[in-house]
Parts: sequence; structure tokens; C-alpha cells
Amino acid sequence: MPLLKRGARHSITVTLNGRPRRGDAEPRMLLTDFLRHELGATGTHVGCEHGVCGACTVHLDAEAVRACLTLAVQADGRRIDTVEGLVKNGETLSPLQEAFRRNHALQCGFCTAGILMSLDHFLDQRPEASEAEIREMLSGHLCRCTGYTGIVRAALETAAQRAASREAR
Ligand code: FES
Ligand code: FES
Repeated sequence: MPLLKRGARHSITVTLNGRPRRGDAEPRMLLTDFLRHELGATGTHVGCEHGVCGACTVHLDAEAVRACLTLAVQADGRRIDTVEGLVKNGETLSPLQEAFRRNHALQCGFCTAGILMSLDHFLDQRPEASEAEIREMLSGHLCRCTGYTGIVRAALETAAQRAASREAR
């Protein structure tokens, strides 16, 4: 990466939800601000801005990361997936989002995008995860509305669906 000059704006190119996108960022610009203000991807929420609440979670090269702890310049040339990219193949909601809807797993929705992105990644890796493991993973996310019960139910349902579809392959 070339030397980044303080205050200068740098051209950043990413693949956002499967599409090439470009924007400008100062060296200190956070990935949250780049996504929301440069690329207009406002589905990613910003809560604490210091890595505690999980609201800003996105996938960077298929790993779940906190966008408030990531600089935009670190994402240059990489793939970013956000909540806007969860719906595929003409669905209205992804199966995980549909499980959230069925189980009343959100109220104000502020935490939801981040939890969806963390769960989507976690359940891909661990479709056989137990309730205790799901709760442990969710301990990195703050939700002030739901009490987590519906979120855990939605996660367990989705885990079972993903495990069943792996077995069917
Ligand atoms: S806004 Fe990033 S963890 Fe809270
Ligand atoms: S649904 Fe309101 S903070 Fe989680």
C-alpha cells in the first residue's frame, strides 16, 4: 500500500455485496463511515464505535469483523458483504432473516444487522452449534430490546436448516 498522507483522500475500491464500488477515504476514516457515507450502504449500523456492541459487524473477505474497528483503507481491494447482501436469488428475506421475523427476534432493529452478519458467518462455520455456543457467540452483541430469547430461537432454527441442507447434499 502506498504511503498514506494525513488528510489526503485515497481512492478505495471494494467488491460490495458482489458489485465493484469505489469511494474516497482519508487514512483515518472508519469502514463504517466509508460504507454509510461514501457508498450509501446504511444497513450497517453504528452504536458504540469502539468494538463493544457489535452493531457494525460486516464480512470482510468472508470473515465477520467490526467495521468500527477497521479502517476503510484496510478494505481496499477486498470483498465486503453487508446486511444488504444477505438476500439472494430474488428472496424477500434470507432464511435467517425469515427466522428472525417468525421468532420476533427484533424490536427496534438497531442491533439486528450486526447480529445477522455475525450469525450468518457463525452458522456457516458451525451449523451444529449448541444453544450454549450460540449464546456465547451472541455475548459479543448488545441488544437492549429483545432479551435475546427470540434471537437464540431464530439461530437454532437456522442452524437446524443449514445442518439438514448439508446432510441432503
Ligand atoms: S459500533 Fe462497532 S462494535 Fe459498536
Ligand atoms: S432490537 Fe432493539 S437493540 Fe436489539
